[in-house]
Amino acid sequence: MSASTTEEAKTGMKLTLKIWRQPDATSSGKLHTYQLADVSPDMSFLEMLDVLNEELNAKGEDPVAFDSDCREGICGMCGLMINGEAHGPEVTTTCQLHMRSFSDGDVITIEPWRSDAFPVMKDLCVDRQAFDRIIQSGGYISVNTGSAPEAHSVQVPKDAADRAFDVATCIGCGACVAACPNGSASLFIGAKITHLGELPQGQAERDSRVVDMLGQHDAEGFGGCTNIGECAAACPKEIPLDVISQLNKDLRTAMLHGR
Ligand code: SF4
Ligand code: FES
Repeated sequence: MSASTTEEAKTGMKLTLKIWRQPDATSSGKLHTYQLADVSPDMSFLEMLDVLNEELNAKGEDPVAFDSDCREGICGMCGLMINGEAHGPEVTTTCQLHMRSFSDGDVITIEPWRSDAFPVMKDLCVDRQAFDRIIQSGGYISVNTGSAPEAHSVQVPKDAADRAFDVATCIGCGACVAACPNGSASLFIGAKITHLGELPQGQAERDSRVVDMLGQHDAEGFGGCTNIGECAAACPKEIPLDVISQLNKDLRTAMLHGR
């Protein structure tokens, strides 16, 4: 054994994983226990699951299904409840969480997002098309097509541009819903409302946007917001809770305008 291999063996962690396994959307599921030896602290959480799946494949067993795409904290595809916390113990996405956040001998419970509006499809994968339908209902601005306008033809104050940019970092991961005891998507919608509402281009549809997005939110089965704040604590992009105040303010204004 080489010196470097010996060193890796010394630093590798033994972990017990309790993972939600569910064959499909209509079957019931339960936690299954797996052991992993020699997990590097430098692995990402999803790489650790890749290693488990390689072992399951080698044994001819069904690998654990989980969502991921960019693995860079950008796309919003990944999302797991790790020991009861959305995206685990750090303020980051599951794909950017590293195993150095855990210790040798740890027992880690891994579950899918729990929300009526995000039904489990298989194992750790949930259907988040409800978010897509909320965006389709109003999370856009209508623009005329044609040649690009002159860059300074619509001026945006610096404070508004900064605020819009900050909340536009929402990646639609759904951790806010999973963390909320009510299963509310208010932080997600608040981020979109605030992003578009800060910009001149977002004003034409401002009233209809908030009414339609909240109507779709309720139709999808998301719960109401009672200002608990777990959503903002779990958000990997640190979307602030005050976007929900903006959401409520825009809704009141729309109702005053007769929407
Ligand atoms: S508000 Fe945060 S937690 Fe919710 S979907 Fe956007 S990035 Fe994810
Ligand atoms: S896989 Fe894209 S944000 Fe995690």
